[in-house]
Amino acid sequence: MTPRADEGRCALVTGASGGIGLELARVLAAHRFSLVLVARREEKLQDLARTLKADHGTEVMVIAADLADPAAPRMVFDRLADAGLQIDLLVNNAGLLREGRFSTMSLDEQLQLLQVNVVAMTALSRLFVAPMVARNHGRILNVASVAAFVPVANLAVYAASKAYVLSLGEALCQELSGSKVTVTTLCPGVTDTGMVQGTNFGNLPRTMIMDAKTVAREGYRACMAGKPVHVAGMANELAVQWIKYQPSWLVRAVGGFLAKGRGG
Ligand SMILES: NC(=O)c1ccc[n+]([C@@H]2O[C@H](COP(=O)([O-])OP(=O)(O)OC[C@H]3O[C@@H](n4cnc5c(N)ncnc54)[C@H](OP(=O)(O)O)[C@@H]3O)[C@@H](O)[C@H]2O)c1
Repeated sequence: MTPRADEGRCALVTGASGGIGLELARVLAAHRFSLVLVARREEKLQDLARTLKADHGTEVMVIAADLADPAAPRMVFDRLADAGLQIDLLVNNAGLLREGRFSTMSLDEQLQLLQVNVVAMTALSRLFVAPMVARNHGRILNVASVAAFVPVANLAVYAASKAYVLSLGEALCQELSGSKVTVTTLCPGVTDTGMVQGTNFGNLPRTMIMDAKTVAREGYRACMAGKPVHVAGMANELAVQWIKYQPSWLVRAVGGFLAKGRGG
């Protein structure tokens, strides 16, 4: 299946095979976007494509890609260019989380995390924003985290990667102000997806965990409104506002407290 190139409503979602990305794809399909779905697990993407076609008549292209491969962003961009497709909304959602002490965690794992969470989203943003700027139309939705606001011990590389995503997005907002290209950074708190299952975050009280559908809906609304940054959920927003007005020693201490009992 190939999305229609002439609609002006074609969205590319990375990490659409599960969790928040899958729910973002569902929201976009419900709002009549045709879709390009990217992740490693092709079967999951094909299942989702079939469901979205049946439920909404959505045209979907599936691209199986490992974003830890430095060549993947260019491969995705070239496949779409060859198909004559333009992307109106880019969702940089794919990401991974690794818990553990910085000094003992595998370096390969740390570099893989940075490749997916930082390098691939930068490359995709750079590749797809240029045509958006040329036609003065387009949106980018980047998925960061509340961890972007707090250095978190035992999640040091993950939290730093999300701080990068937030910083890049806000800087791009400034560069693009006055144009019709918008960049939104979505910052979820702990969300019930495969990412947190098996980690200590999954053991938090249910009231502290959001569901992926709600996070996706909030992200979609913020993106369509052209909001620069959106923290998902009122409790997370209050926590982030609190953090912003604290001295940095206290913010570091909070990050250390969050790490208690976690990592190895
Ligand atoms: N869950 C939370 O508590 C939480 C909180 C704040 C922010 N976030 C952020 O939200 C985003 C989505 O996470 P999630 O919670 O929905 O996690 P998830 O359920 O684990 O989904 C992660 C998605 O990223 C894709 N992905 C991972 N590594 C990839 C790779 N090398 N190449 C291509 N795709 C890859 C996965 O697809 P494949 O495995 O099929 O490749 C999957 O579709 C991430 O950026 C995450 O950091 C999550």
